[in-house]
Amino acid sequence: MTAENLLPVTELYAPFDEAEKLKQEAGQLPSWDLTPRQICDLELLMNGGFYPLSGFLGEADYTSVVENMRLADGSLWPMPITLDVGQDFADALKVGQKIALRDLEGVILATIDISDIYTPDKSKEAEMVFGADDEAHPAVNYLHNTAGAVYLGGKITGIHPITHYDFRARRDSPNELRSYFRKLGWRRIVAFQTRNPLHRAHQELTFRAAKEAQANLLIHPIVGLTKPGDIDHFTRVRCYEAVLDQYPSSTTSMSLLNLAMRMAGPREAVWHGLIRRNHGCTHFIVGRDHAGPGKNSAGEDFYGPYDAQDLFREHQEEMGIEMVDFKHMVYVQERAQYEPADEIEDKDNVTVLNISGTELRRRLSEGLEIPEWFSFPTVVEELRKSKPARSKQGFTVFFTGFSGSGKSTIANALMVKLMEMGGRPVTLLDGDIVRKNLSSELGFSKEHRDLNIRRIGYVASEITKNGGIAICAPIAPYATTRRAVREDIEQFGAFIEVHVGTSIEECERRDRKGLYKLAREGKIKEFTGISDPYDVPKNPELFLETENVEVDNCAHQVILTLESMGLITG
Ligand code: PPS
Repeated sequence: MTAENLLPVTELYAPFDEAEKLKQEAGQLPSWDLTPRQICDLELLMNGGFYPLSGFLGEADYTSVVENMRLADGSLWPMPITLDVGQDFADALKVGQKIALRDLEGVILATIDISDIYTPDKSKEAEMVFGADDEAHPAVNYLHNTAGAVYLGGKITGIHPITHYDFRARRDSPNELRSYFRKLGWRRIVAFQTRNPLHRAHQELTFRAAKEAQANLLIHPIVGLTKPGDIDHFTRVRCYEAVLDQYPSSTTSMSLLNLAMRMAGPREAVWHGLIRRNHGCTHFIVGRDHAGPGKNSAGEDFYGPYDAQDLFREHQEEMGIEMVDFKHMVYVQERAQYEPADEIEDKDNVTVLNISGTELRRRLSEGLEIPEWFSFPTVVEELRKSKPARSKQGFTVFFTGFSGSGKSTIANALMVKLMEMGGRPVTLLDGDIVRKNLSSELGFSKEHRDLNIRRIGYVASEITKNGGIAICAPIAPYATTRRAVREDIEQFGAFIEVHVGTSIEECERRDRKGLYKLAREGKIKEFTGISDPYDVPKNPELFLETENVEVDNCAHQVILTLESMGLITG
C-alpha cells in the first residue's frame, strides 16, 4: 500500500481540456496583474504546496489565521495568504465577480471567484503573525509599504502553471516529488530548507539528520523571495549542485521551491513544515532561529532562538511531519572532521574551528582565504564570482553641489585617474551630458529634477551591478532623491557621495557659464541656490573644499577615500 505522504495531493488546476476554454473566457474578465510575491503564492496554491487552501483567504479564514493560526474550519495554517490590491481596483469590484490573474507579462494564470473584499487591520496582522508592528521586520515593512490596502478572498481555478526559464529540471510540484519518491521507493524523507549556500558543516548536519531519521534527504532550497540582501538564487543553485556530489549517490536529491518567504520565525517554521509535508516529506530539519528576520528596531532579536523548534514540536503530530532538530556543527582540527558542538567531550583539549556568516562575508569582500575545511572549492569559486572582492566590485561616485561648483572638472580629473589605474570600465554621467542625451525633454521643476536624477541613478546602478565605475556629477539638490539613488545602487555596490562644497557666493563670483547673472536678472527661473532650494548633504562620504584647492588635489582626495573603503588597491 502506498504511504499517505506519497498519495497525490489536491491541486487547483482546471482539467486540461477545460483550461483552454477557461482561458478564452478569462480574456474578457477584469484582470489583476500579480506582484512577484503573489505569483509565488499562486504557484503553491495551484500545485497543492499550500494544501488545504483552495484560494486566497477570505475574511473569516484570514481573521482566524491571524488570531489562532487556524483556518475558520479549525485546520492548522499559520500564514495569511492574501491577495492584496489597491483601493481603486477594489472599489470597482463586487463580491460574486470572477477576475483573471495575470503574470508580469500579461499571461492569464488563473481566475479567482471573489467571495470577500475586505480591509485588513495591518498593525494587528503585524503584531500577531510577525510578533511586532515594527518595520525593521521585512514582512512588516512589506505589509505597510508595498502591499495594497484591500484584500480579495476567493477560490482559485488554475489555468496555466507559472513559467520558469531557469533550472527547469530542478523544479518539482508536490505531486512530481511524491511520484519521484514513489518511483525510487523512498518512504521516509527528511527535507532541508535553506536560503543560503551550503558549506561543509551543512553537508555534515544534513547527512547526520538523514541518518538519525533513517530517511533519504531532500535538499529543498528557496528560489522565490528570500530575505533582502541574500545571495541571488542563480549563484546558490550552482553552489548546491556542487555540494550534491558530496553526498553518497542515491541517498539525496535536490528540488527548488518557489516560495516567497516572510521570515516569520516560529510561524514560518510551521508553515514550512506543512509545505514540505505537502511535497511528500516525512521529516523536516528546524534549526536555531529558523527563518529569523534579524534584529528589530531596538537592536534585539524578534524571536527567541528556539521558539521555532518549540512551536513546531507542539504541532508536529497534527501536521503529519516530524521535526529533526538542527545540530550546531563545528570543525575539530585534530580529528579533521565536523562534530555537533554539544557532543564534543574533550573540547578543552582539541581545537574547535568555526567561521560565522559575518566572517565569511568579510573574507569574501576582502578577497581573503576561505579554508578548505570550511567549504568546498567549487562553492567558494561560485561565491567569489558572484561577490568579488570589493576592489573588483562596481561602485558609484556621486558628486553633488551648485552649478559651477567644480563638479564636472573634478569628475573628469577623477575619471582620468581611474582610467590610468585600469581594471574596471569608467563611465562619466555629467549633468550637462545627461541632460543632452537622456533627459533632453526635462526642465528644472522639482518633478523634472527628480526624474533626471532617478534616470542617472538607474544607469549608475546598472553600471555598478555589472562591475563598472559610474561617476555622476549632477546638482541633485534634493536629499530624498539622493537617498533613493543611494538605495538603488547599494544593492549592487558602494555609493560614495561627494559634496563639492563651493559656496553659492563663490560660484556666483566665478559664474563660468554666465548663468548666475541671468538668474539674478530673472531670465532663468528656478535656479539652484538663487531661486530654488539645495539640501546640503548631511553625511556625505566626502566633503570637498574647493576654494584655494587644486582640482588635482580634490580628485586625489576622492581616490584616497576609495582606497580607504577597499574599492581600489594600491
Ligand atoms: S539637476 O537639478 O541635478 O537635475 O540639474 P543638472 O541636471 O545637474 O543640470 C544642471 C546644469 O543645468 C544648467 N541649468 C541650471 N542649473 C540649475 N538650475 C537651473 N534653473 C538651471 N538651468 C540650467 C546649469 O548649467 C547646470 O550645470 P552645472 O554642470 O551644474 O554647472
